[in-house]
Amino acid sequence: MTQLNVAVLANLKKNAPRFPGMPEDYWADLDSEHTVETIADALRGRGHNVTFLEGDLTLFDRLREARPDICFNICEGHFGDSREAHVPSILEMLRIPYTGSKVLTLALALDKPMTKRVLTFHSLPTPPFQVFERTNEPLDPELTFPLFVKPSRQGTGMGISPQSVVYDEGQLRAQIDVLLKAYSEPVLVERFISGPDVTVGVVGNLVPPVAWRLPEDEEAPRVHRGLHFLPPLQIDLGKYADEEAGIYTNRAKVDLADDLTYICPAQLDPDLVEELNWLTAATFRVTGCLDVARVDFRLDEAEGKPYILEINPLPGLAPGISDLVIEARAEGLDHAELVNMIMDAALERYDMA
Ligand SMILES: Nc1ncnc2c1ncn2[C@@H]1O[C@H](COP(=O)(O)OP(=O)(O)O)[C@@H](O)[C@H]1O
Ligand SMILES: [Mg+2]
Repeated sequence: MTQLNVAVLANLKKNAPRFPGMPEDYWADLDSEHTVETIADALRGRGHNVTFLEGDLTLFDRLREARPDICFNICEGHFGDSREAHVPSILEMLRIPYTGSKVLTLALALDKPMTKRVLTFHSLPTPPFQVFERTNEPLDPELTFPLFVKPSRQGTGMGISPQSVVYDEGQLRAQIDVLLKAYSEPVLVERFISGPDVTVGVVGNLVPPVAWRLPEDEEAPRVHRGLHFLPPLQIDLGKYADEEAGIYTNRAKVDLADDLTYICPAQLDPDLVEELNWLTAATFRVTGCLDVARVDFRLDEAEGKPYILEINPLPGLAPGISDLVIEARAEGLDHAELVNMIMDAALERYDMA
């Protein structure tokens, strides 16, 4: 194994820009020093030379100076609709290899309606939806109540509360109005899916020719060479069924996180797990993911059918905390092994293994 110069690129919470009136949880998605140090140690364990670089305005010059062989990128970015795509754009300008998905995929996944358009084009199951840029746009008659109202380009349950579930026109219009004002971005309205939240992590890359099979090709064997599926994780929201309406709200994700039960592996029928893995692979492929991703689902209780809510091409890697890390642990993979699996996937892709 060759020893490489690796730069871990991240946006640390403690280095994030501050501005007046900034809400307390504004940088909830950013990483801790502990996460970055643990990733760096995992890579050092493989004999690499590892440094950390903050993904801020100084990054371009620092990278030109350091010229690492490869970057382990987990930058969430700071500002703008495509913030997660900023650092990969710089890396491509400098022609430096990096782990994880590229510019287009990272920008796409931050836009939920745009991602859903791609999924719908490929006949992948995602709740039917409509995007509102004004409060009084007519509602598509195909969409029947209850509906779910959320921001188009937020994460970590931002803008998601028990009021997200609306049962009539009055509640719908009121909630669209609240979100348009709070986030100044289009509002996504979806069919409400009643059932548990399940998330599936995946590491690796699809190997052709399997990678080119269409997901709707029922004849295709459901084998995904090159992809390693982690066991599905179910978030038990039953404890807060009354207060949070059984939804993975911002309060559940931030304030109640330590108190929630994560069931991993989720107790699901093996056929359903196979279906979830298949849908994860298909979503990974049609959105152009690389090396690692996590797909969030809701399982419809009545139909027993999974619906894709979103794909996270930069899933959190906080030791002992992030969903992907919990999933890996359920399979007997520790944090260092998970980090190196992601690195190995990238090295193989760049022919650097
Ligand atoms: N269409 C829907 N029907 C029912 N619940 C939903 C729907 N969309 C989102 N949710 C609930 O809201 C949570 C957060 O939604 P999601 O789109 O994944 O946003 P985030 O980026 O904040 O995770 C989900 O985990 C789920 O509990
Ligand atoms: Mg989600």
